[in-house]
Amino acid sequence: MQKLLYIDSCIRGELSRTRRIATPIIEKLKDRYDVETIVINDLELNPVQYDENRRRAAGTVSEEALCWASKIKNADRIVIAAPFWDMSIPAALKTFFELCSLFHVTFDSDDKTCYGLCKAEKTLFITTRGMEIKTGEPLEQATPYLKALFWLWGIKGLEVIARENFDYISAEKIEEEISSAIKEGLELAENF
Ligand SMILES: Cc1cc2nc3c(=O)[nH]c(=O)nc-3n(C[C@H](O)[C@H](O)[C@H](O)COP(=O)(O)O)c2cc1C
Repeated sequence: MQKLLYIDSCIRGELSRTRRIATPIIEKLKDRYDVETIVINDLELNPVQYDENRRRAAGTVSEEALCWASKIKNADRIVIAAPFWDMSIPAALKTFFELCSLFHVTFDSDDKTCYGLCKAEKTLFITTRGMEIKTGEPLEQATPYLKALFWLWGIKGLEVIARENFDYISAEKIEEEISSAIKEGLELAENF
């Protein structure tokens, strides 16, 4: 079976509406993929600072980071669930990506530029936003960041399932939006 890496960055855990959308979609994908889950909350990450950067430059990479980066490199599919925080992704997920952005693992370089080493041909980003900001609007800085990072790592085909305005619509409307996002995801999962 091919490998799917699920990166659960739903920082509010059980309260997360984004996770409620992602969970049944991941369950369906388990029919066709060997799914491995990384829960960002469980990793208790610290931002990458000068010491870590110096260690890396001297050729020492933490074993944990190497292990996560290898999972990203070798995954056939990647699914990320993350809420919209401060117009982008939660910082813990950004930290995770910085830890996984490893020379000779997720990307490499020749004498002119960088190129990706990862193999995923399709990826899915599941998100919910508090305000009415749609995917691709200039104020929406999560998807452009993921696209750029995935370009660096050689990861292709980013699909986005997003629902908006969750901090301003009724509880009933939120339930409707969650159901329609799950439906969209289950349909997408058929050919993912
Ligand atoms: C720390 C934090 C930062 C947020 N920043 C934004 C933001 O910049 N723009 C926005 O539209 N919503 C923002 N929100 C609202 C969330 O995107 C929204 O409530 C989302 O549905 C939360 O997803 P969750 O239920 O999966 O945690 C923020 C929420 C939190 C807790």
